Amino acid sequence: MNVKQVLSQMTLEEKVSLLQGRGWWHTVPVERLGVPSIMVSDGPHGLRKQVPSPDHPGDDTIKATCFPTAAGMACSFDPELMAELGGILGDTCQAEDVAVLLGPAANIKRSPLCGRNFEYFSEDPVLSGEIAAGYIRGVQQKGVGVSLKHFAANNQETRRMSVSEHISQRALREIYLASFERAVKASNPWTLMCSYNKINGTYSSENPWLLTDVLRKQWGWDGVVMSDWGAVNDHVKGVAAGLELEMPRAGDDDDEMLVEAVKSGKIPEAVVDQAAERMLELIDKAVSQRAPETEIDLGQQHHIARKLAREAMVLLKNDGNLLPIRGNKKVAFIGKFAEKPRFQGGGSSHINAAEELSSLEAVRSVCPVTYAPGYGIEKDEIDEALVAEAVKVAQEAEIVVAFLGLPDNFESEGYDRTHLSIPACQLHLLDKLLAVQPNIAVVLMNGAPVEMPFVNRVPAILEAYLAGQAGGGAVVDLIFGAVSPCGKLAETFPLKLSDTPCHLNFPGDGDHVVYAEDIYVGYRYYDKKEMPVLFPFGHGLTYTTFEYSNLRLSGSVFTGEPVTVSVDVTNTGKVVAKEIVQFYVRPDHPGKSRPIRELKAFGKLLLQPGETGTVTVTLDSRAFAYWEDGLEDWHVEPGKYVIEAAASSRDIRLSAEIAAEGKPYCPPITMDSTFGDVMALPAARAAAENLAAQLRGAPVMGGDEISAEMMEAMFRDMPLHAICSFVNGKLKRADIAALVKTINEAL
Ligand code: BGC
Repeated sequence: MNVKQVLSQMTLEEKVSLLQGRGWWHTVPVERLGVPSIMVSDGPHGLRKQVPSPDHPGDDTIKATCFPTAAGMACSFDPELMAELGGILGDTCQAEDVAVLLGPAANIKRSPLCGRNFEYFSEDPVLSGEIAAGYIRGVQQKGVGVSLKHFAANNQETRRMSVSEHISQRALREIYLASFERAVKASNPWTLMCSYNKINGTYSSENPWLLTDVLRKQWGWDGVVMSDWGAVNDHVKGVAAGLELEMPRAGDDDDEMLVEAVKSGKIPEAVVDQAAERMLELIDKAVSQRAPETEIDLGQQHHIARKLAREAMVLLKNDGNLLPIRGNKKVAFIGKFAEKPRFQGGGSSHINAAEELSSLEAVRSVCPVTYAPGYGIEKDEIDEALVAEAVKVAQEAEIVVAFLGLPDNFESEGYDRTHLSIPACQLHLLDKLLAVQPNIAVVLMNGAPVEMPFVNRVPAILEAYLAGQAGGGAVVDLIFGAVSPCGKLAETFPLKLSDTPCHLNFPGDGDHVVYAEDIYVGYRYYDKKEMPVLFPFGHGLTYTTFEYSNLRLSGSVFTGEPVTVSVDVTNTGKVVAKEIVQFYVRPDHPGKSRPIRELKAFGKLLLQPGETGTVTVTLDSRAFAYWEDGLEDWHVEPGKYVIEAAASSRDIRLSAEIAAEGKPYCPPITMDSTFGDVMALPAARAAAENLAAQLRGAPVMGGDEISAEMMEAMFRDMPLHAICSFVNGKLKRADIAALVKTINEAL
C-alpha cells in the first residue's frame, strides 16, 4: 500500500474511522480504498484468539500452547530464549491470521501483592526491559507485531481504571519508564498499549507528556499507541495526546466528536492525519508480511514449553543436596497440585491450553511414586481424612515432594492480594508431614512471592512459578536431575508483607496512591535498608558449584566507547549446568541518594564439569547515570564506581573499580540557595569567601553565646535571601543579588 497516497484520498470521516476498533479485536477497514481490517489478540504466554464469533469478549478461545508465564520466564535471564518463545508465538499468530499479539507486559513489580505480577517480568527495569526486548524481537521477526503493555505505571489492579499514581520524575525515569524504554529502543515494538491508570493526575490515554514527549520525541519511537480495553476517557483528548487507536469500539459518538473537534478547530486536522497515517503503516506492515500458510505443530510446541519451563524455575534451597532424587528411593508426591498443576493466571492472558502435563503423569516414565492429594484447591479448608492419608504415604516413603502454592482465586488480573500466605490447609498439611518425614522437597506453584513459615524446616524448595502446560514435566526433569535447575529470581522474596517497600502506600487511598518509596523498589530498597530477606533478587541454586575469577574492565565511562566487563566462570562441580552472572554498578561515594547497587547487565553460560567460560558485557554511560531533575536528563556524577560480578544481588563474587571523570552537576545559584550550596562550588568559593569576610565581626542573633561552629552551621543552611536579616545592616539584598549574578556568570 502506498500509505501517503491512500491517506491523501481519504475523507476526514474515513481517517477518523481508523482511530477506533471494529468490535473487540479488529481495526476498521476502508473498503473504498482497499484498506483491510487486521486482528489483534491477547498474549502474552500463548495466543488467546477468540472463536467463533470474535467481536465480543468471552472465554471461547482457540486451543493453543500455554507457555510459562512472564514471572518465571524472566528468571531465565535469557533474551535469546525469549526470542525463541516470541518466534513460536509469531508463527502461531501467522497461522491464525492475527496481526498483533497483545503483549509482552513490562510493568515493574512494585509490590508482590499485585494480582497481575505473574504477567510481569521483574522488579528491575534492566532485566524487565531486556527480557521484553527478546520476546518482541522474536515475534516481530515473523512479520507479526506486538503491543508492549501497559504503558505506564500500571502496578496494581485495585481501582486500576481510575487510580492516580503519584510518582516522582526520577522514579518514573529510573524505574517505571526505564523498563519500557529499554524494550522500545532495543526492539522497536509495532505498537504500545497505554495503561488504564492516571499518572500524576492524568490518564495515560490522554497524557501528551507520556505518549508524545517521552515516547516519540525523547525515545524516537514512531509506532501506534492503542488504548487498553476501555482505557479511553475522552477520545478527542486521547488523539490529541498521541493515542492512535481506541480499543475496543466505544461507539459512533467518539468518531462524531472527533470529526466535530477538527471542524471546529479544536484539534488540527494534521493530528488526525498523523494518527491515521500511523494506523495505515501498521496495517500495511501486517498485511504485507502475512503468511497464512504457516504451519504450527502443537506437539512440538509442547516440548518447547517444557524446555522453557525448565529454564524458568528457581531452586531456592537444597540443604544436604536432597535434590536431585537419585537411585531407587521410595518417592511420594503429595499435594493436589501434583495431579492438577496450577500453571497460568486468570484474566485476559488465560489460554485454552492444548495439553496439560501434571508432574504425577510425567513422573510415570521416570520412577514409580506413591501419591496423596492432601488438600483440596476449591476451598481453603482442612480435610483431616486427606491429611491422614497423606501422612501415611509420607511415612512410608524415603523422600516426599510436596506440591504447594496458590489456587486460582488467590491471584488474578482484576484484583490484588491482601496477604502473602499460601492456604492454611496447605500449611497445616506440611506441618503434619514434617512430623513424620524430614526429607521433604517443596515445589511451589504461584505467580508471585509467598511467605514461607516453613523455610527453615524443609531442606529443599523449588519455585516453579506458573510454568505453563508442560510445567509439570519440567518439575520432574529438574527434581530427578535430568537437567540442572538454572533460573534465578527476578524479584525479591521478602520475609513478610510488612517488609515490602511500598507497604504503607499500597494500594493507596481510594484513587490516590503515592509512590513514597520512590526509586527504592525491590532489592534497591532492601539493600539500602540493610534488611534481611527470604530470598534475594538474583538468587538461584543448581546441582553444581561455580567459581568466578579474573574480573577485568576496559574502556572508560566517558570516551563514548562503552566499558567492557569480562569475568571467567568455572564449573567446579560434577554435573553440567548453566550459570547466570549478574553485573551490578555501585557508586562509591555518591553525592545524590542512590541505590547501593543496580543491575546493569547479565550473561548466561552452559558449562561442563571442569570447564571455564567467559561472560562479557558492555556498559554504556547510562549504566552509571541517575536522572537529574535539574537537568531533566541523565547525569553521571564524576567519581569512583564499583563494578560487581555476582551470583545474586547478595552474593557478590568479584568487584573492580572504575573512575568517571567529568563535571559535577551544579544547579544555578538563586536567592534561595544556601550559603553552604555556594561554598560547595569551587567556582563560587572566592565570591562566597569575600562575602564571609565582609560579615566577619557582624553581630548576629544570639549574641556572645554563639560559638564560631554554631555560627558556621547556621550560615551553612541559611538561604542567601535571609542573610541580610542577621547581619545588622552590613549587607543589602541588592548586594546579595549582585553576588548571585557574579556566581552564575562564573559557573
Ligand atoms: C487488559 C489487557 C488486555 C486487554 C484485552 C485488558 O483488560 O488489561 O492486558 O490485553 O484487556 O483483553
